[in-house]
Amino acid sequence: MKPLTFSVLRLLSDEEFHSGEEMARLLDVSRTGIWQALQDLDESGLSLQRIRGRGYRLPQGIQWLNRERILSAIGANANRIDLMLADSVESTNSMLLQNTALGAPHGACLASELQTRGRGRRGRSWHTGLGGGLAFSLLWRFNQGVASLSGLSLAAGVAVARALREAGVSDVSLKWPNDVLHRHHKLAGILIELQGDMLGPSAAVIGIGLNLKLSDRTRSAIDQAVTDVHSVCKTPPDRNLLQGRLLAHLIEVLDLFSESGFSALREEWRQLHAYHGKTVRLLQPNGPVIEGRIVDVSDDGSLLLDSGSGPRHIASGEISLRGAA
Ligand code: BTN
Repeated sequence: MKPLTFSVLRLLSDEEFHSGEEMARLLDVSRTGIWQALQDLDESGLSLQRIRGRGYRLPQGIQWLNRERILSAIGANANRIDLMLADSVESTNSMLLQNTALGAPHGACLASELQTRGRGRRGRSWHTGLGGGLAFSLLWRFNQGVASLSGLSLAAGVAVARALREAGVSDVSLKWPNDVLHRHHKLAGILIELQGDMLGPSAAVIGIGLNLKLSDRTRSAIDQAVTDVHSVCKTPPDRNLLQGRLLAHLIEVLDLFSESGFSALREEWRQLHAYHGKTVRLLQPNGPVIEGRIVDVSDDGSLLLDSGSGPRHIASGEISLRGAA
């Protein structure tokens, strides 16, 4: 979306009516410019109300990301985060990965109001409407090599679950390796991308997408069971507060992970696992579908699955209950 469209949206986010003429005057552009900016709204997933003689109105408003409020919600560790806010990027992970290669600092965080090509795991897309979620990536550098970061995505799941529980969302659980669920419906997803050597040093770009309030349009673009914080929480948290608390919990968990690896978080993760002890189907990236019972998760984050001949370690794949015995 064009920068002018964001300026128009910022004017409209007070949920009041504004005429094209008034907006053109305030933003010092022509009325045609305003009209064109409004045509560009499609990408945002927002719907605009228009009434002849009164102008335009955004019925649902938008809680914009706010740097000071996010930093204040992080609290004592705020100085460890180098926060960048963007209106629109293709993908916060893609952009931060590029910056990582160019030397971006440990703790760099990019949060965007909108992603035009948000990416999920296994080549999927990640959809969030403008203001309807959180989409951010955090760069964390490690002395250890990429070989020792296999449990990192599970650790990040623990941080997200802690932040959601603290915000009043009950029944939060995790699905191996790192989906964040509410009663088996996906609330958040985590995409971790690594750079560096096997023996170190290394860097991880930890991308998190969280559904806050999905529009019908965004919901219909998603091909799995999803939910959002507004549907599962009596008093939904403020968007900036939640963004800050997610970062605060990530810092805590990442410190622990750097020091002691996933083993320090393993018991908490196990308690959060929605599928612990369940019989599941496992889809492997290039292998056959295996059916078995989830026995445990190991210190390196791999899943221990018993399909009759004793537990075996599974490093990657996707589990589902569907069709399982
Ligand atoms: C998944 O569950 O498939 C992972 C989804 C990860 C989405 C987030 S949104 C912020 C960051 N930027 C991206 O392009 N993807 C991640």
